Amino acid sequence: RRICHDPATHQPLAYLRLRQAIRNIIGHRDIEPGQALPSERDLSQTLKLSRVTVRKAIAGLVEEGLLTQRHGAGTFIAERIVKPMSRLTSFTEDLRERGLSPRSEFFERGIGEVTPEESMALNLSPGSLVVRLHRLRYGQDEPLAIERSVVPASVLPDPLLVHDSLYEALEKLNARPRRALQRLRAVSLNAQQARLLHVGVGSAGLNIERRSFLDDGRVVEFTCSWYRGDIYDFVAELQTD
Ligand code: GLP
Repeated sequence: RRICHDPATHQPLAYLRLRQAIRNIIGHRDIEPGQALPSERDLSQTLKLSRVTVRKAIAGLVEEGLLTQRHGAGTFIAERIVKPMSRLTSFTEDLRERGLSPRSEFFERGIGEVTPEESMALNLSPGSLVVRLHRLRYGQDEPLAIERSVVPASVLPDPLLVHDSLYEALEKLNARPRRALQRLRAVSLNAQQARLLHVGVGSAGLNIERRSFLDDGRVVEFTCSWYRGDIYDFVAELQTD
């Protein structure tokens, strides 16, 4: 069989098709997290693809954290969301990559004068205007994180430009962040956070602060998030100097 390559990624199309098919299976919840993936043999028969392609696609999805493999037991749909720390991606992109649909509920989406604390975080002079977003972020109708973002109005002039994804709105304005500093801290979720995230009071959460920047060094956002500790794994690749 002739192998076609996707011009953008140079990956064989059959491989990409299979990855998409597996993502769809996960996204549509045809198989619940924790359940076993059909065997390599079954997948290759139903999808009419070679076992080598199936094996490569599965290995790719294991690396991305969508699937997990237990030695001798098989391949399973990952129960946790594994997020590589070194990539500057948005919540929306992270979920879509996993075949899950993201959604936000807004508690606040407005514009106002910067507070002294915000002006420090964003390098803004007093009196500047900022857009504030306070959102509960869902994946497949399950609440996953609470986020408070502050963005200079000089970058994002109107809060209503954010329909669901902040980075999508910034992209349209040619202001997608290029670099970010992120701090991750363990916290126990307070009563209000726990109620919103559908977990018990005092459950483990990950508090993430992200300050992201444009190429010219301007700060684009200061975001404080509380992610559910029972669902998220943040992973990083480490190298020696
Ligand atoms: C992550 C980051 C936030 C960022 C957000 C953007 O959750 N921790 O700092 O603001 O992604 O996501 P979206 O574009 O979906 O709003």
